[in-house]
Amino acid sequence: MQPEFAGLKVNGPRLWQDLMEMGAIGITQDQGVTRLALSETHMAAKNWLISRAREAGLEVEIDPALNVICRLRSVRSSGGKTLIAGSHLDTVPNSGRFDGALGVLAALECARVLLEHGLTLPCDLEVIDFTDEEGYHNAGTIGSRAMLGLLKQGEIHEAKMKGIPTFAQDMERLGYDPNKIVAAKRDPSHMKAYLELHIEQGDQLESSETAIGAVTGIVGIYRYDIRVVGEANHAGTMLMQRRKDALVMAAPLFQLLPQWVRARSSKMVGTIGQLTLEPGAMNIIPGECRFIVELRSMESQDMIAIRELLKEWVASHPGSSIRTILEKDSVQVAAPLVDAVVRAAETEGLQVVRMASGAGHDAQSFAKYVPAGMIFVPSKSGKSHCPEEWTSPENVTKGCQVLLNTIIHLAQND
Ligand code: HGY
Ligand code: MN
Ligand code: MN
Repeated sequence: MQPEFAGLKVNGPRLWQDLMEMGAIGITQDQGVTRLALSETHMAAKNWLISRAREAGLEVEIDPALNVICRLRSVRSSGGKTLIAGSHLDTVPNSGRFDGALGVLAALECARVLLEHGLTLPCDLEVIDFTDEEGYHNAGTIGSRAMLGLLKQGEIHEAKMKGIPTFAQDMERLGYDPNKIVAAKRDPSHMKAYLELHIEQGDQLESSETAIGAVTGIVGIYRYDIRVVGEANHAGTMLMQRRKDALVMAAPLFQLLPQWVRARSSKMVGTIGQLTLEPGAMNIIPGECRFIVELRSMESQDMIAIRELLKEWVASHPGSSIRTILEKDSVQVAAPLVDAVVRAAETEGLQVVRMASGAGHDAQSFAKYVPAGMIFVPSKSGKSHCPEEWTSPENVTKGCQVLLNTIIHLAQND
């Protein structure tokens, strides 16, 4: 490491203060956080980042996919490759204060430390907040996939469920032209590396009392929109034996799915986390039951096997249908990036373990095109996507320091 960077330390209390301030944007009655992509609270979070980054002296822009890009230009090389560190400020409903926000704010802290010491790297550094990582509108990771030109044709005009706006509609509501999203695409050959600090969202680090996870791979995620159609009718006058109750017709699948998944692999998970009934009133027999099946595994053939069982079930239930929302395969993190994270942690005398991620991340969008690495810090009791999500100030600081060390190392080495 060049001498001017040796001993550079992040300001943990300042980062913690930022996290708590960010956590107040979209706070819910039980101290959770809701910042659905492109909602008022999400845009408030983006504006908070823009003003903090400008205060720190970074160049800031919003790209055509509404990603917020905060840039620290290198004084040493113009037009060279860019090192990106980021994550997402959007959340699932009633989430925690750390999922996504930690990665964005820690990257901001790293850029601030460099600026405060009058240092720039041998390459530009970009701190990026990617839009709609959580898939509120549809498949998720829209901002990072837009930056890599990976959005499917028409994808932003599809909503995953009735009653949810499309990403394009929300862009228009905010005064952005959805047709311009393709201009968010950048050439990955100009990107040196992508790094993301993130909470583990599991309990492996906590239970092994390890401070840092060096992520070796990110799980594959397959998602399907299934509709089971019955016949809406009066809930009081229609006798049971004459009903076509869509919920009752779908119900067997809610038991079959976990049975199939468990029978297939102990390392695979399957979830139905989102379900709607139409017309959706207590005194109407459901005419349609619509739900999203999500499968996750490091092995694509596991998810394909369950997909085929789902398709068979739908085929044998007239009036049912299945639509693919997402089929994203697992990715391996490039060994040099994993090693860089391990080394950065060991420089601080921290325990570090190589581990896979059961959660999806923006790093997954980059991993096939750019050297992409992830750093995990412990989640208390492994909880996430809920108000109880928690990582200690000490672990937040350790994770941010490892991020800074890794940024400096990667910036100086090809
Ligand atoms: O769903 C996930 O794994 C991530 O939190 N978006
Ligand atoms: Mn999440
Ligand atoms: Mn996340």
